Amino acid sequence: MSKIIAPSILSADFAHLGRDIEMINQSEAAWFHVDVMDGVFVPNISFGFPVMKSLKQHAQKTLDVHLMIVQPERYIQEFADAGADVLTVHLEASTHLHRTLQQIKAAGMKAGVALNPHTSIYSLMDVLEDIDLVCLMSVNPGFGGQKFIPQTLKKTETLKNEIIRLGCNTLIEIDGGVSLQNAGDLFKAGADVLVAGNTVFSSENPTQTITELLNCSK
Ligand code: DX5
Ligand code: ZN
Repeated sequence: MSKIIAPSILSADFAHLGRDIEMINQSEAAWFHVDVMDGVFVPNISFGFPVMKSLKQHAQKTLDVHLMIVQPERYIQEFADAGADVLTVHLEASTHLHRTLQQIKAAGMKAGVALNPHTSIYSLMDVLEDIDLVCLMSVNPGFGGQKFIPQTLKKTETLKNEIIRLGCNTLIEIDGGVSLQNAGDLFKAGADVLVAGNTVFSSENPTQTITELLNCSK
């Protein structure tokens, strides 16, 4: 499968959201990464359904929604209705993860699980074959623009080996501190999707930066 860049709209200019969405539409990014934060699971609040619905009307690509909220199972249908294509919940926020994954799929979405930096990939082993995407957090979730945690590289390799061993199609996404300096190593380690907020939106030429990130896979 070809590699994917998912710009995080958390780093967009919300006063010019239409312009930033159009930039992503015109770029080589395949997904929009949408960070939803509740101020409880993480120490920050981002945005919710009204913003998502506007986004859905204009975005011409996959909406990859990353829920950093407690009890994510309470909102599965609402996110499906708001246009999410991939819905990712945190393992640390899900008491009945297996049930939540089934509910996400029953609502017509791909099911993702995110792991905080301290959470072992082995805590996912019994559900790995039911997961469409594992999001490895390479920063502590809550904010854009943080520094990449280098241990994520090893974790990516280990997870990739387990996915190969089981013969499943689960995608590996890396979220946090992705840059032109580490993108090549992450792709080599087995990453399929790289989320990029600050690297894309602080660039003078975001469209070109997306192409450069993607070219790190070649
Ligand atoms: C962090 C979010 C990330 C964030 C990434 O909690 O999940 O998706 O937007 O931003 P950068 O690429 O700036 O680290
Ligand atoms: Zn995210």
